[in-house]
Amino acid sequence: MVDISVSIAGLHLRNPTMLASGVLGMSGKLLKRVASAGAGAVVTKSIGPKPRPGHPNPTFVELPYGYLNAMGLPNPGIDEFVQEIKIAKESGVPVIVSVFGQSPEEFAYVAERAEKAGASAIEVNVSCPHAEVGLIGQDPVLTREVVRSVKERVKIPVFVKLTPNVTDITEIACAAEKAGADAVTAINTVKAMYIDIESAKPVLSNKIGGLSGPAIKPIAIRCVYEIYESVRIPIIGVGGIQNWKDAVEFFLAGASAIQVGSGVIMGLNIFRDICGGIKRYLERKGFTKLREIIGLAHR
Ligand SMILES: Cc1cc2nc3c(=O)[nH]c(=O)nc-3n(C[C@H](O)[C@H](O)[C@H](O)COP(=O)(O)O)c2cc1C
Repeated sequence: MVDISVSIAGLHLRNPTMLASGVLGMSGKLLKRVASAGAGAVVTKSIGPKPRPGHPNPTFVELPYGYLNAMGLPNPGIDEFVQEIKIAKESGVPVIVSVFGQSPEEFAYVAERAEKAGASAIEVNVSCPHAEVGLIGQDPVLTREVVRSVKERVKIPVFVKLTPNVTDITEIACAAEKAGADAVTAINTVKAMYIDIESAKPVLSNKIGGLSGPAIKPIAIRCVYEIYESVRIPIIGVGGIQNWKDAVEFFLAGASAIQVGSGVIMGLNIFRDICGGIKRYLERKGFTKLREIIGLAHR
């Protein structure tokens, strides 16, 4: 029997798959459904200090090679969301609460409240390409300030979600590590646009959005590979994962766990399918533990 359980900064996962932030993560009930479908952990939608409506429609477009969205971080605010965290906790899998704010203090405030509500870890979202927080993750100094502030206020592990929309992603990963991050999550969506040629206008109300799905996988793999050579903390890989082969590619690049976002559109079976495929791959290659293949492409 091969062992695909993983431990990320002391957080034990029965398998290395997680639900990515923003996709089905708005309610405790849905997070529980994802956990019972086999995910090793779930990440909530990004939550801020106050309710926020997000951008007006259209906010989501399906493209032949992926999805473009500019939701604008709609969320009910942490006061309302504590109930959902408590419900999600009933699933028995780690519940990672994604947080954002306008200042280091706001990030820390939301993280502290999430920890009190029972969060297993915090994922700091400094990387949304269609909201102001995206700018934080493009600046190593601001990233360090936010991570320090959150680390000072919570005891649970803190993951930092990185943006690919920078010249050198390792610079931001190193800043997060120096500030005390326990892991980094890579990557958030890639800044992109779609123009309707009949109306001759950008389709999204925000004009610019974030691209996800298969189109961004090679970008995400390159980011994970580069980060693996620059930091010692674990990397959680995300971007375009649709099946077990994609997941294995992320482990070989250096990810210790993976997240599925857009891939859940194909159905929640994706978590069990990916785990089954990873196990068969490990067996076929003569490995006994998932750990043995993490970073193997760096030899
Ligand atoms: C509709 C939608 C909403 C998202 N909302 C968030 C969010 O609230 N916070 C966040 O950190 N990432 C958010 N993301 C980014 C995903 O978590 C993930 O990083 C990205 O989509 C790449 O993974 P994928 O190709 O598997 O979707 C969102 C993505 C989509 C498609």
